[in-house]
Amino acid sequence: MEERIISPIEREEDTFEKSLRPQFFSEYIGQDKVKNELGIYIQAAKQREESLDHVLLYGPPGLGKTTMAMVIANEMQVNVRTTSGPAIEKPGDLVAILNELDPGDVLFIDEIHRLPKVVEEMLYSAMEDFYIDIMVGQGTSAHPVHFPLPPFTLVGATTRAGMLSAPLRDRFGIISHMEYYTEADLQEIICRSAAIFSTEIVEEGALEIARRSRGTPRIANRLLKRVRDFAQVEGDGVINRQLADRALLLLQVDHAGLDYVDQKLIKTMIELYNGGPVGLSTLSVNIGEEQETVEDMYEPYLIQKGFLKRTQRGRMVTRLSYEHFNYPYVGE
Ligand code: ADE
Repeated sequence: MEERIISPIEREEDTFEKSLRPQFFSEYIGQDKVKNELGIYIQAAKQREESLDHVLLYGPPGLGKTTMAMVIANEMQVNVRTTSGPAIEKPGDLVAILNELDPGDVLFIDEIHRLPKVVEEMLYSAMEDFYIDIMVGQGTSAHPVHFPLPPFTLVGATTRAGMLSAPLRDRFGIISHMEYYTEADLQEIICRSAAIFSTEIVEEGALEIARRSRGTPRIANRLLKRVRDFAQVEGDGVINRQLADRALLLLQVDHAGLDYVDQKLIKTMIELYNGGPVGLSTLSVNIGEEQETVEDMYEPYLIQKGFLKRTQRGRMVTRLSYEHFNYPYVGE
């Protein structure tokens, strides 16, 4: 994949990001609807001394689903065990994980839509009635052994709720949609992160980065890190609006927050396909990305901002795209 400065996919070196993670709702900026709802369910579960119902978090990458899972566990005052759909390859892996849980613990499964089918099916009884049946023995002597589990809370994360099978989705009592952050929320997150880094930033500088972070805290924090380097070497260490603007243009992040790959996607559609319609597979090949990546990471923001639309016949760019990139508009 093309290396994107604003890729919302988490990488190994992002440990710095973990130090920025809020631990409790009181520190978590934005996602007010999700926070308010979960806050009530958590309080109710604690009062009843029960485990919290299973929670499904869905929304584009980089919006804090993992952080939210950690916050849920902290607020419930329980441990959290973190894994991902592709990491649980066989039923035995799931048994090992479930076996280690204490009553009330949170099990966080990222990319839950990528669980192998046999593992997913095993989760049904685990989620619904806190037991699993394990097959023991071979051939004619094979028989299921009933294995009770402590009550636990499964927190699942996925980019699109529609990618989950109905039986799995139905077993989540709480389904929460994570939304893109407002500029004001991102500005606050950037100021908070800058304070943690001991970096001086003026409000307009934070707002400039916020505007160009595609509604995504992970991108905001990554851009902040780059702009801070720039401020240290080229400026006096203080991040103001002008410096942020210069640094971001150098990083090829334009004024709408579109990066190199977004720009390539739109320009390809205009130059090669007269603005569309273009099929997703054709488009993905053209820009050298996986279809799923284009669908989950690039498109949602471009659609939300009105640069792109999905039609029956394929993807089409809008008038806004032509104007943004200074092409003469020849559409309807
Ligand atoms: N850092 C990353 N995301 C955050 C959020 N939602 N609130 C506070 N700090 C953050």
